[in-house]
Amino acid sequence: MYNKEDKILIIGAGGQIGIELAQELSLLYGSSNVIAADVKPIPVLSNNPFEKLDVLDKDALLNVVKKHGVSHVYLLAALLSATGEQNPMFAWKLNMEGLFNVLELAKEKHITKVYWPSSIAVFGPTTPKVNTPQYTVMEPSTIYGISKQAGERWCEWYHNKFGVDVRSLRYPGLIGWKSAPGGGTTDYAVHIFHEALKNKSYECFLSENTALPMMHMEDAIRATIEIMHVPAENVKIRGSYNLAGISFTPKEIAEEIKKHIPEFNITYKPDFRQQIADSWPQSIDESYAQKDWGWKQNYNLITLVDNMLQNLA
Ligand code: SER
Repeated sequence: MYNKEDKILIIGAGGQIGIELAQELSLLYGSSNVIAADVKPIPVLSNNPFEKLDVLDKDALLNVVKKHGVSHVYLLAALLSATGEQNPMFAWKLNMEGLFNVLELAKEKHITKVYWPSSIAVFGPTTPKVNTPQYTVMEPSTIYGISKQAGERWCEWYHNKFGVDVRSLRYPGLIGWKSAPGGGTTDYAVHIFHEALKNKSYECFLSENTALPMMHMEDAIRATIEIMHVPAENVKIRGSYNLAGISFTPKEIAEEIKKHIPEFNITYKPDFRQQIADSWPQSIDESYAQKDWGWKQNYNLITLVDNMLQNLA
């Protein structure tokens, strides 16, 4: 399943997902076969070859691919929902042109496989909010969500037209202890652990009853590696697969944290991110991922909170 001849390039390897994905893929392929690329150095990935790379620089990207004989690209460089709203034109440019540059590499057969993440942000205020189906109304209201929705269609189009082997997951909010999130609406669910341990209090930028789907990073990384290694015929959806994760509100996660840290106190001061959160699903139906490639998540809210507090403490 893990061909040691393969060479992996992770673009945006210094981000929240990239760091953990690089570490896991290094265990499978060997660090020297997992090239970490980002616009800034990544000290925690000092065992991996590093390339300073801007994904918008198509020529530089091709040079890196040729230099290392890269076969698989994981494209993680993007602006997320909250920062995307503050810098819409750049968010569109980075999220779309970065994807085109990588899909073109695959079309031209420089590489054989592409991973590109999508998100619950593809859904919008008119989408059914509970147990959101794989196929449903999708009218995203953030630039990030619009770029992910368009990106899904582009991935599918490159697959149908040119046979590009591109695979994708719609991640819920991601929660891990090894790396920091940046610029997302779901980031509160990571910050809350750091603040609970450090200050025993947290001011949440979403209101107490805002339910969102979230996932432990370990599950997200495992899902990513699994979908990239199942036979191509199992990947029936070439847009992006729903993943359910765990649905909870700020109040519910705070209550779970209080079981470990009784003094912990949460207050609420919703900001512009509230409107983004309100436009997203509360829970997700992942039956296609289960059926097509056997996906099964491990964590629930209790084990997630326990794991985060233990590791961060
Ligand atoms: N976690 C992301 C965000 O909040 C959603 O994909 O922007």
